[in-house]
Amino acid sequence: MNRVAFLGLGRMGAAMATRLAQSGVDISAWNRTAGRGEAAAAAGAVIAKTPQSAVAGRDLIITMLSDERAVAEVVGRLAAEPGATVIEMSTISPDAVRQVRSMLPAEVGLIDAPVLGGVAQAATGTLHIFAGGEPHVVDRCEPVLSQLGTVQRCGALGSGAAVKLVVNLANISSMVVLGEALRLAGALGVDPDTAFGALARTALGSLAQGMRSRIETACVPVMFRTALAEESARLIASADGPADSVAMAVHLQLRSAIEAGLADQDVSAAIRKMAGS
Ligand SMILES: NC(=O)c1ccc[n+]([C@@H]2O[C@H](COP(=O)([O-])OP(=O)(O)OC[C@H]3O[C@@H](n4cnc5c(N)ncnc54)[C@H](OP(=O)(O)O)[C@@H]3O)[C@@H](O)[C@H]2O)c1
Repeated sequence: MNRVAFLGLGRMGAAMATRLAQSGVDISAWNRTAGRGEAAAAAGAVIAKTPQSAVAGRDLIITMLSDERAVAEVVGRLAAEPGATVIEMSTISPDAVRQVRSMLPAEVGLIDAPVLGGVAQAATGTLHIFAGGEPHVVDRCEPVLSQLGTVQRCGALGSGAAVKLVVNLANISSMVVLGEALRLAGALGVDPDTAFGALARTALGSLAQGMRSRIETACVPVMFRTALAEESARLIASADGPADSVAMAVHLQLRSAIEAGLADQDVSAAIRKMAGS
């Protein structure tokens, strides 16, 4: 049986580590800030005080951290055992995945495996996982990853990260378009019930329905921080090239939400700001 180390118990990481422990996986978990591992510990995870103690004797090491900087900081200090495999699941760029590769010894394996789905899907093992890496290395990771969701093999190392950015362009730009559609509705005097009812018939339908109550009320609980949406949009805009791309416009909108102090609020707060309500 695999012995797993899980590094990063934020919103997603805590739910994923708990899910793995509940599935009977032997897991040791670490988070930079103490006190975020209670649910995982209650499900049977051992909470480690340092990343080094978390990875000692572990053959699979999962990282689920906010961004590229966090991943580089944590991986840079790792003493993974020869023969171990790192499964990098944060949303980072393909270049950052290759940088992680260069930071690890050759005898430590690496795959990138970012996820589609949020905290609810993490908790129920229904994420969609975009895996990049050599097939035999992905093979080693699949039994554990399949406890978290469906694994889609995307190709060579970095290809999972690439597909995740493609998917996030669709998802995050849809959120921004939803904010603009609601602002347009307000400007034209269309009441919210009519606007949401009409939007339900469009490509934004399920998004509008799923986010309506959080956009209109308190934007809680925080499920996906605006800062993470903005970071994703930044990665997409830098990969996407033209200055007049949709990706760039989406990034600028989210940047302005950050400047308005919404970084640690749910992304629904940014949509609400865009909607002008
Ligand atoms: N939330 C979602 O719905 C969702 C869905 C799909 C993918 N994702 C992606 O999954 C990743 C995690 O998202 P999340 O929502 O779980 O984020 P989060 O709740 O903000 O948690 C971020 C995690 O990263 C850690 N971290 C940040 N900087 C660090 C550093 N320098 N050194 C060590 N640890 C550091 C945090 O530790 P502390 O507790 O110490 O701050 C925390 O464990 C992101 O890449 C995000 O884009 C999120």
